[in-house]
Amino acid sequence: MKLVHLAAGLLIPVLAHAAPTSSKPVHPKVKGTPKVLGLVTDPSLDRDSCGSAKFNDRVLWVCRDTQNWGPDGLPTFPLITSSASWTEYNSHGGPRLVTPAGADTAEYLMYGDNHNQSFYPLLYDECNETQSGQCGDLSRYALWPDSPPMVTMTNPDASVLAYTWVKKSHIMPDLSTLISDPATSLYRVNYVPYRDGPTGLPQVEIVNETFWGENEIPYGDYGNVVQDGTAYLYGQNSNGTIALAKVDPLNVEKKWMYEYWASGSWTSQQPASDDPSINIPSVTAGGQGTFYWSDTWQSFVWIGQHSQSVSADFYITTAPQPQGPWTEPVNFYSGVNGNYTLGGYTLQAHPSLTTPWGNDIYMTYTKTDVVDGQAIYSHPLIHVQWE
Ligand SMILES: *[C@@H]1O[C@H](CO)[C@@H](O)[C@H](O)[C@H]1NC(C)=O
Ligand SMILES: *[C@@H]1O[C@H](CO)[C@@H](O)[C@H](O)[C@H]1NC(C)=O
Ligand SMILES: *[C@@H]1O[C@H](CO)[C@@H](O)[C@H](O)[C@H]1NC(C)=O
Ligand SMILES: *[C@@H]1O[C@H](CO)[C@@H](O)[C@H](O)[C@H]1NC(C)=O
Ligand SMILES: *[C@@H]1O[C@H](CO)[C@@H](O)[C@H](O)[C@H]1NC(C)=O
Repeated sequence: MKLVHLAAGLLIPVLAHAAPTSSKPVHPKVKGTPKVLGLVTDPSLDRDSCGSAKFNDRVLWVCRDTQNWGPDGLPTFPLITSSASWTEYNSHGGPRLVTPAGADTAEYLMYGDNHNQSFYPLLYDECNETQSGQCGDLSRYALWPDSPPMVTMTNPDASVLAYTWVKKSHIMPDLSTLISDPATSLYRVNYVPYRDGPTGLPQVEIVNETFWGENEIPYGDYGNVVQDGTAYLYGQNSNGTIALAKVDPLNVEKKWMYEYWASGSWTSQQPASDDPSINIPSVTAGGQGTFYWSDTWQSFVWIGQHSQSVSADFYITTAPQPQGPWTEPVNFYSGVNGNYTLGGYTLQAHPSLTTPWGNDIYMTYTKTDVVDGQAIYSHPLIHVQWE
């Protein structure tokens, strides 16, 4: 029997239920019009691409490039490659929004001490003289997380253990990559309340800088979901192939414990990245998004962006098993785009803000507007109810 912390801090026993046997596809329908509730924001930071995970009785958000605001109201340099924040639940286990006096937009306030340090530390061979990973030759190690930390353990003392895989992307100013399929680092994320304090963030350590080598599928980076005592890890290579691995959540650091989906079955032999039998059709719409498990639908769910899109057009697909069959991804909601070149990206679902047995989901995206020639980011919070 596992003990799971609810938002309210209650400990409840959760009975492991049998793997779903039904293969009936679920085609979710939106009920009414989704509501834009307000903005998720740390008013002291300008940053993009935030994903979230439930860390015991709070939500941990991890974002990509982060800037402090200057006295002129514009973001300052240097960049910080990633940063994290906390948000609080309301008494129903949903997001606690507040409307500042005199403002007309509600805010879901993020807080936490980043100390101008990248949340996922840059290592000595990643141009780490600055926290942006900027090298002397204009290239940059952009250690941008594609998924929030995957929680593998919540202990009775409220400490939380999680993991994240981040590609060692080495890019040029035009965002082109110097290595199409770089190696992937595995980081351990550990929050200990008495050590880290209420505004302190989890401590992050590198487990292995090249957990997945160059030209290997970066399993876990593209998405992950822990369900029924197994961690399912999705990886996407530069050719757009999306493949799946699985491991016991307690053995994430042990590469020899992993199994891989290839030729229609699980194998302990890691397949080659160009093996056509590893690709999972329709598992996503090709872009960035979030995987989660829905008890209500007895389905795995993916919500995110189309590979060809830089707009806030949200797609959904579902499957009874993590390897599929997945339904054809459909566009079910479109948000307002910003007026910058990349008007809407990093479309994320936030299963952290609802329960697996709920009939709703919260979502965000990065909306980019240009003000005085600089990119200004905001994160609208959207609430979707299903029929
Ligand atoms: C972070 O850097 C900004 C300037 O870029 C500075 O104003 C701020 O005090 C720094 N914060 C910490 C915690 O060092
Ligand atoms: C650069 O990385 C090394 C470890 O690889 C670390 O010891 C050092 O503190 C880092 N430097 C900065 C400025 O982060
Ligand atoms: C990192 O993982 C790779 C792949 O399993 C392995 O070859 C390498 O020895 C590991 N490095 C360290 C420092 O453990
Ligand atoms: C990517 O596609 C190219 C051209 O189809 C092929 O030559 C290459 O082997 C593929 N690489 C991977 C890692 O799938
Ligand atoms: C883009 O949108 C922002 C925020 O609404 C606004 O301040 C700015 O003037 C707009 N810029 C252009 C070029 O329309």
